[in-house]
Amino acid sequence: MRKLTNIMVTGGAGFIGANFINWLFKGTDFSGRIINFDKLTYAGNPESLKAVDETHGGERYFLVQGDICDRAKVEETLKAYDIDTIIHFAAESHVDRSIEGPEVFVQTNVMGTFTLLDAARHYWGDREGVLFHHVSTDEVYGSLGETGFFYETTPYDPRSAYSASKASSDHLVRSYYHTYGLPITLSNCSNNYGPLQFPEKLIPVIIENILNERNLPVYGDGKNIRDWLFVEDHNSAVWEIVNRGKTGESYNIGGENEWENIQLVHKLCELMAEKQGKDKDYFKKLITFVKDRPGHDRRYAINCDKLKNELGWKQSLDFAEGLNKTVDWYLENREWVERVQSGEYRKWMEINYSER
Ligand code: NAD
Ligand code: TYD
Repeated sequence: MRKLTNIMVTGGAGFIGANFINWLFKGTDFSGRIINFDKLTYAGNPESLKAVDETHGGERYFLVQGDICDRAKVEETLKAYDIDTIIHFAAESHVDRSIEGPEVFVQTNVMGTFTLLDAARHYWGDREGVLFHHVSTDEVYGSLGETGFFYETTPYDPRSAYSASKASSDHLVRSYYHTYGLPITLSNCSNNYGPLQFPEKLIPVIIENILNERNLPVYGDGKNIRDWLFVEDHNSAVWEIVNRGKTGESYNIGGENEWENIQLVHKLCELMAEKQGKDKDYFKKLITFVKDRPGHDRRYAINCDKLKNELGWKQSLDFAEGLNKTVDWYLENREWVERVQSGEYRKWMEINYSER
């Protein structure tokens, strides 16, 4: 078990990072400090951490607005908070955006990760008990046919600027371990879903469009397959790896829960119909097959036996429960959705938050 005291969480105002910080304070006995280092791009919303900020702000929780590409700011933060652990979530994360504008993906995901690694190496020197954990994706392995799984040993074969930039950052992380002995761990996870996800990814897009009775865009033939994992299960896996994972190793994390996109959209239509008191098939008329995403990976499926066998982790929620929780969260948090969509949350930040 590692001793983790002052953890810098990069990208902690994003979907997975915010869920991670909330869960850490609520669901674990972690007693140290969390320094959330986040640029607050369109995807970063400190309002997602309102409760933690109210209970622990200025004592055990700190938000530092900064860019991981800004070496001076990163160094200053490592020093000011005596950081011993970095859990690196910050990234540009949406494949569709990487098709429209790949440059920022290379900048943040490659150069940002490099900047963090190099700053950590210089700041930590030979210090013991430190760790750099890199959060990555199964998309680095490419696309599967109808059978087979991604293993930790599967060769990388990224196909979008997003996955190529994540693959590149994974290689840099491993290179810092082999070349400089920087203590690292790495995880590659499948598609996450749950509360606080920016409404540009499939599940929140479908929920929001059903609520507004807008078309439900399904790319191509709708038969692309993704493996879905509830976000808290991703985070509990990251926490296991950070605490007990073997230095220098990569771990796959997955839901073992494969669905075609069209099957998932049907499930969401039925669940929403039940909640809104409509006929089971009422919302399915909104399904619209649209032009396929260029370079659309056909199937992702992950083997996470290493994590299960070595660290005893397992998924805690089945898909029906997870989807139900997610849909309920979006129904109950209309203000959050409206504010991230309109950019209004930035005003909330100006009024309610000042960097401590
Ligand atoms: P997100 O887009 O919701 O959040 C990203 C966060 O990073 C935001 O808070 C943003 O403000 C911050 N950020 C972006 N650029 C930054 C920069 N230059 N400096 C500092 N902060 C910056 O992403 P997410 O879905 O929460 O994903 C988090 C991590 O998990 C990413 O590394 C992603 O590749 C990985 N991942 C995501 C999924 C998924 O399904 N969402 C699956 C596997 C792995
Ligand atoms: P997404 O949530 O963007 O995650 P990723 O591309 O990282 O897997 O997309 C999940 C799947 O859903 C993917 O196969 C693309 C598809 N998709 C749609 O069919 N319609 C949509 O509106 C979106 C956003 C995605």
